[in-house]
Amino acid sequence: MNFISMNLVTMMYLIASVCFIQALKGLSSPGTARTGNAFGMSGMAIAFVTTIALILKLRAEATAAGTAGGMGLALVAVGVIVGGGIGAVLAKKVEMTKMPELVAAMHSLIGLAAVCIAVAAVSEPHAFGIAAVGEALPFGNRIELFIGTFVGAITFSGSVIAFGKLSGKYKFRLFQGAPVSFAGQHMLNLALAIVMVGLGLAFCFAGGTEPAWTPFLIMTAIAFVLGVLIIIPIGGADMPVVVSMLNSYSGWAAAGIGFSLNNAMLIIAGSLVGSSGAILSYIMCKAMNRSFFNVILGGFGGAPAEAGGGGAKEQRPVKSGSADDAAFIMANAESVIIVPGYGLAVARAQHSLKELVEKLTHKGVSVKYAIHPVAGRMPGHMNVLLAEAEVPYDQVFEMEDINGEFGQTDVVLILGANDVVNPAAKDPKSPIAGMPILEAYKAKSIIVNKRSMASGYAGLDNELFYQANTMMVFGDAKKVIEDMVKAVE
Ligand code: TAP
Repeated sequence: MNFISMNLVTMMYLIASVCFIQALKGLSSPGTARTGNAFGMSGMAIAFVTTIALILKLRAEATAAGTAGGMGLALVAVGVIVGGGIGAVLAKKVEMTKMPELVAAMHSLIGLAAVCIAVAAVSEPHAFGIAAVGEALPFGNRIELFIGTFVGAITFSGSVIAFGKLSGKYKFRLFQGAPVSFAGQHMLNLALAIVMVGLGLAFCFAGGTEPAWTPFLIMTAIAFVLGVLIIIPIGGADMPVVVSMLNSYSGWAAAGIGFSLNNAMLIIAGSLVGSSGAILSYIMCKAMNRSFFNVILGGFGGAPAEAGGGGAKEQRPVKSGSADDAAFIMANAESVIIVPGYGLAVARAQHSLKELVEKLTHKGVSVKYAIHPVAGRMPGHMNVLLAEAEVPYDQVFEMEDINGEFGQTDVVLILGANDVVNPAAKDPKSPIAGMPILEAYKAKSIIVNKRSMASGYAGLDNELFYQANTMMVFGDAKKVIEDMVKAVE
């Protein structure tokens, strides 16, 4: 089985890494996203096949040296079949709107894997080629394992809480969208972090050939608790940042373990995930006008109790109309801007929407789509939704490119969007104060489609719905848009 040399392994891992870099580059724009995905899949296939070949090589060497034992290969096969099977089923079944929960669940597994590998490496370093049998773990490896373990543990428990908050299905208090905070929370977090680092250092500096299990295991347990404590005070509207931050953590955990295992692939892929997640978190914080540290410390003005969807019904009167009325107004306008939001994704109405836009364009109306960076429930959600319906990219505009146009636009059609057009963001006392919004309130006429007067994800009332030039069209987005299509015809 010595058909593969370590040089070839390194070379293949390097090729896979280049594929991952190309994947990230491709995924940065809807036009090149498919190519990016193809690069990502190719990179993963190369990394997977190379790793299997490497395992076979190491196994053959161990058998030749008479040190092979256990059921290593059988376990790998079971892992590949079970893990691959679950992944395939989930990928096929998952709805677009449930992606953030799935991503959070996946991150938790990466974190847990990092902890398991670290515990195994501390327990039997010789099996990983880190130290000879009976030799102590080298100091450098102890530091790497300490970092990989605590980052992995925080990622695991933090992601489990994020999963619960995002799914909104569980009654458990910690899984509610509303922030959970108590007096002295930040001080407790700080104290636990200091104890955790102290115990980690005790593990790193311990003498003797046996690993210092007590500080190591207590440090790991504290990291699990810290993961929970860091995420519970974060409210619903900040969840996008949390998900990408945990994405970043999971990458760093993988990179830390990669150093211990001397695995270039894990180091490079982990660093790419870690840094791209960190950059995305930064971009989203900017999009929501939040300080990154404020989000991490749970300081985002404390989202209201209704955060996470639903929300109290407002009793003030609003002007409402039918899909026919809305179609009439749009067909007689010169310019229309469409603001898609979470509700459009829930209703899966993107194909009907494309048909409506085609009909309006055919009548000579200029139609554009305006995308808010955190519309929907995950980064790029609206872009993916519109791409599914093959909406031409030149009709789709990012917030900063289209915000200047609302004032000169005849009609804005808001479909299942709420927080991203909420003028409350301009009020310094609002929980979403300072969050940049799509300035739909400036348009001459505003048409809003949603099912009721319920609030959006941040749990806030929306003044836009009560403006004199706003008409509400109540109903499921798909049905309403289909009716609009018929009326425009
Ligand atoms: P939201 O503020 O959540 O509002 C969505 C609206 O869609 C709701 O008010 C709901 O009202 C309506 N709706 C639901 N189902 C519908 C259907 N079938 N037909 C028509 N309308 C329907 O959405 P948004 O404006 O897109 O803002 C996104 C929010 O999610 C932000 O607060 C953001 O911070 C947060 N968030 C974003 C992400 C990312 S990364 N994008 C991740 C997590 C959270 P009714 O119930 O009355 O119909």
